[in-house]
Amino acid sequence: MANILLVDDDPETLKSCGLYLKSRGHNIACAKNGHEGFRIFQSGPFDLIVSDLVMEGMDGINLLEKVKESDPHVGFIIFTAFPSVSSAVRSLKSLADDYVEKPLLNIDDLHAVVKVVLKKVQARMGRENEDHAGTPLDGKLVADGYMEPEEFMGFLGKSPRMKEVYRCLKKIAPTDSTVLITGETGTGKELAAKTIHELSPRKKRPFVAVNCAAIPVSIFESELFGHEKGAFTSADKTRTGLFEEAEGGTLFLDEIGEISPETQVKLLRVIQEREVRRVGDSHPININVRIIASSNKDLLEEIHRKNFRKDLYYRLNVMSIHLPPLREREGDIRLLMQQFLSRFGVKFHGKGIDMAVAAWKSALAYPWPGNVRELINVLERAVLLADGRAVTSLPLCAPVDTNAARWSTFKEAKQHWLERFEREFILDKVRENGGNIAATAKAIGLDVKSVWRKVKIYGILA
Ligand SMILES: Nc1ncnc2c1ncn2[C@@H]1O[C@H](COP(=O)(O)OP(=O)(O)OP(=O)(O)O)[C@@H](O)[C@H]1O
Ligand SMILES: [Mg+2]
Repeated sequence: MANILLVDDDPETLKSCGLYLKSRGHNIACAKNGHEGFRIFQSGPFDLIVSDLVMEGMDGINLLEKVKESDPHVGFIIFTAFPSVSSAVRSLKSLADDYVEKPLLNIDDLHAVVKVVLKKVQARMGRENEDHAGTPLDGKLVADGYMEPEEFMGFLGKSPRMKEVYRCLKKIAPTDSTVLITGETGTGKELAAKTIHELSPRKKRPFVAVNCAAIPVSIFESELFGHEKGAFTSADKTRTGLFEEAEGGTLFLDEIGEISPETQVKLLRVIQEREVRRVGDSHPININVRIIASSNKDLLEEIHRKNFRKDLYYRLNVMSIHLPPLREREGDIRLLMQQFLSRFGVKFHGKGIDMAVAAWKSALAYPWPGNVRELINVLERAVLLADGRAVTSLPLCAPVDTNAARWSTFKEAKQHWLERFEREFILDKVRENGGNIAATAKAIGLDVKSVWRKVKIYGILA
C-alpha cells in the first residue's frame, strides 16, 4: 500500500484512475493542477505522484521540478499524450521515473508502471519492506478530486485526540448534565460548548454565553440573576438576568475560574436548588437551564490555593471534556493550515494560496501557545500580506522565555523588545490597511520607504 497523488485537469481521469488505484489498496489524493498538487504534496507523505503534463497554471514539468527539489526520493510518473515527441519529456526523463501514455487503453498498464516505480522508490528510500500504512493521508478521494477535510460541527481535525473529543461531545450532548470544559486558550472550548448545545434537545432554545472574566464583580450577580427596580442606586428598572434569558436552553459560563468567592456560593445554590432570586427580591424563580462551564485555569490547583470552592467544582464537573493543545494533535496543524490557506486565499485573493517548504517547517515546529485561534490569526495575516503570491514566512511570535537567557545586557534586551514591538505594530497596521503600504505609512506617520524597509526586515511580506 502506498500514498499516491494524482494530478490532472480532467476530473474523469482523476476519478477513474483514483478509484482504480484505490481498489488496488493504495491511499489516493487528487489535485486538478500543479499548484494544488504541490500544496497537497507538502501535506504528505507521498510515495508517488502521477501527473498530467499540460495543465493551466503550474504544469506537470514545473510540478516535477518543485517536487524533486523538495524530496528527490518521491516517485514521479508523467501521464502524457505525447510521450515520444515531447522534447520536454525527453529532457525530463532523467528526473521523472517513468511515463504512461494517454489515452489509457488498458488501465492495468497504469498499475504495472505504478508497481515498478514504487519498487524503485522503496529501494531509494532503503525501506524495501515498509510502506506508509501507518501514516494515512489527511483526506479521502471525493468525486471532484479534492481532499475532504475531517470536520465535526465546525471543528477541523482528525487526530486521535480530536476524534476522542468528538466522541465525548456526542456522548455528553443529549444528557442534561452540567459540563466542565477545560483546555488552554484558543483550543475551542466555546466551540465545544456551542456544539453540545446544538446536539442537545435544547438546541431550539437560547444559548447564552457569559464571559465571567469580563464582567465586573460589582454587577456580576445582577447580570446573572437579574435585579428588581430600586435594588441598588442605578437599578432604575427591573432587569431579567442571564439565567432567565437562557430559560429552556444552555448557559455557558466561560472562564468560571474568575468568579468571586461570594458569587461562587450563590452559583452553587442556584445549581443545587434550580432557582434564582433577582437581586433585591426574595422570591425564587424556577429555572430550567443547562449549565456548561469552562476554564483555562487548572481548577484543582485553584481549589488547592483556596481560590475556588471544591463543592462548586464537583457540581460543575458532572461531565467533563478536555480540549488538547494543538501541539498534541498529531497531523492537525497541517490540516488546519491547509484549510485556512485556502479559505483566506479565496477570501482575500479569490484563489487558494501556496506556502513555501520553509514556512511549513516553521509551522510544524512551532509550539502554538495560542492554539487554533493563534493559527487562524497567523494565517489570516500571512495570506493577506502575501498579496496573492505563495506565503514564504509566517508571523510567528516565539514564546518569550525561550530567548530570555540570551540577553545579558539591558541594551540587548531593549533591542529585542523594540524589534518585537515594531514587528507587531507594523504587522497590525499593515493588516488594518488591507496590506496597502502607502496607506499604512500615512496612518502611522512614517514615510513609505521606512515602512517598506521594516516590512522587509521583519519578513512581513513575501
Ligand atoms: N478544531 C478547530 N477547527 C476549526 N476552528 C477551530 C477549532 N478549534 C477552535 N476553532 C476556532 O478557533 C477560535 C477559538 O476557539 P474558542 O473561542 O472556542 O477557544 P477557547 O478555548 O474558548 O479560547 P479561550 O480560552 O481563549 O476563550 C474560534 O474562532 C473557533 O471557531
Ligand atoms: Mg473562550
